[in-house]
Amino acid sequence: MYTHAGAGWSIRPFDPADAGACLAIFRDCLADMPWRVRNRGQYMILRRAFGPQNALVAEEPDAGIIGFLTLQMAQGYVDHMFVDRDWRFCGVARGLLEVARAHVNGTLSLDVDTENLGARRAYEALGWQVVASTTANGKARQMRLVSP
Ligand SMILES: CC(C)(COP(=O)(O)OP(=O)(O)OC[C@H]1O[C@@H](n2cnc3c(N)ncnc32)[C@H](O)[C@@H]1OP(=O)(O)O)[C@@H](O)C(=O)NCCC(=O)NCCS
Repeated sequence: MYTHAGAGWSIRPFDPADAGACLAIFRDCLADMPWRVRNRGQYMILRRAFGPQNALVAEEPDAGIIGFLTLQMAQGYVDHMFVDRDWRFCGVARGLLEVARAHVNGTLSLDVDTENLGARRAYEALGWQVVASTTANGKARQMRLVSP
């Protein structure tokens, strides 16, 4: 198990009992993404992505679940990466991505919305590189990043 000795949280495989807490974090994060179209499909996609083999959670003894990611193992593709706003800048994303990287034994990739400047800065700080971007109406909408 990956444990952050100073901050007291640890990372473990997803358990079905974690779904509610993860969905609450996801819902709260979406509130900061006004560019995203709201629909139930996003929640269904997330629910389908949950599984002990392809999702990791960060847990703190008092706060409970404070972040999670889901992973398409064969492709090394991170399809969700969300950290509770009260626990950001504590290395939670770094830890989740490190554990995911050890699981796939190779580089990871993910897509980030162009408007999501905070996440883009975080991935940049972690050494991820932009390898492609998709456009709509002549504007970049998403960027494909790969891990170091
Ligand atoms: C993006 C996100 C996952 C980062 O999680 P986090 O746990 O705060 O990230 P970490 O603490 O592991 O930080 C990793 C590095 O990124 C930097 N960083 C994190 N957020 C940052 C921000 N908003 N601006 C600039 N740098 C940032 C940290 O300082 C750290 O760099 P350092 O080690 O050089 O100091 C989190 O902000 C989040 O959940 N955002 C909302 C949901 C989202 O956008 N998800 C991504 C979808 S692709």
